[in-house]
Amino acid sequence: MGPFDWHPHAPLEPLVLDWLNGVELAVLRLDRIDPLISGNKWFKLTEHLTQAQQAGASGIISLGGAYSNHLHALAAAGQRFGFATVGLMRGHPQDTPTVLDLKAFGMQLHWLGYGGYRARHAADFWLPWREQYPHLYPVPEGGGGVAGALGCAVLVEQARGQLSNVGWADYDGWWLAAGTGTTLAGLALAEAGAHPVYGAMAVPDDHGVAQNVRAIAAQGVELLDASRGGFDKVDGALLDFIRTTEQATGLPLEPLYTGKALSALKQQIEAGRFVPGTRLIFVHTGGLQGRRGIKG
Ligand SMILES: Cc1ncc(COP(=O)(O)O)c(C=O)c1O
Repeated sequence: MGPFDWHPHAPLEPLVLDWLNGVELAVLRLDRIDPLISGNKWFKLTEHLTQAQQAGASGIISLGGAYSNHLHALAAAGQRFGFATVGLMRGHPQDTPTVLDLKAFGMQLHWLGYGGYRARHAADFWLPWREQYPHLYPVPEGGGGVAGALGCAVLVEQARGQLSNVGWADYDGWWLAAGTGTTLAGLALAEAGAHPVYGAMAVPDDHGVAQNVRAIAAQGVELLDASRGGFDKVDGALLDFIRTTEQATGLPLEPLYTGKALSALKQQIEAGRFVPGTRLIFVHTGGLQGRRGIKG
């Protein structure tokens, strides 16, 4: 497989909202790199794909749920760059818009049930799959781990190269959604303490985000709970916030990651967390395909 001669560019744009109270915000639009391979997912995959290529693999096997942004980007990349993809799926067969896309992109799916999927961290989980697909390279859920983080480090360069687009010479920090914390760990690695990275956690504290991040990046990270009671918890106030923001700025958001992250920033600004004049880069991590499955 490979070479993967694609280096997508995420535009940095100003973001003006009426609740910023003097804080300046720019948004790094990972949702705009490509219509299909969207968001942080391509960046999280690049290093895994390089390792797969070096291992002589002919494709990738990975896992996720029926709305997975990761599997969606992986399957689209497989179709675009001509490598095989297999998805190990949480739960029982269902045809969500995401699953229909996965099939159309040529990903082969295996449904593991819920118990079977929960076993994914067991030491022997991969054995039968490696036997069945010896030529495929396994990538962890969400494209995580050190390789996933390393692939995201380029985002720091990309943003720094475009600061003049928003009239800035420098910035004071990053603000983004965290699911596993891999993307923000990549930013923190590249920053090496130069600017703080604030992670608005889309999952509650007990999901191990802090441990994941600490295992990869030692410094410069601050996490806060933006989950609103659970990963899939979506309330009317959040949906109103997303609608209002979209109407005011044209920035599309989805509820599980980008909507929760930006709404958490609003709360922090209202609580006086950042002094006027603070310049933050909000990373739009994509995920818009996933909102097809969410009502509201
Ligand atoms: C749209 C979107 N934003 C943010 C994240 C969180 O990324 P990470 O797991 O690297 O923290 C994910 C995936 O988990 C995602 O799909």
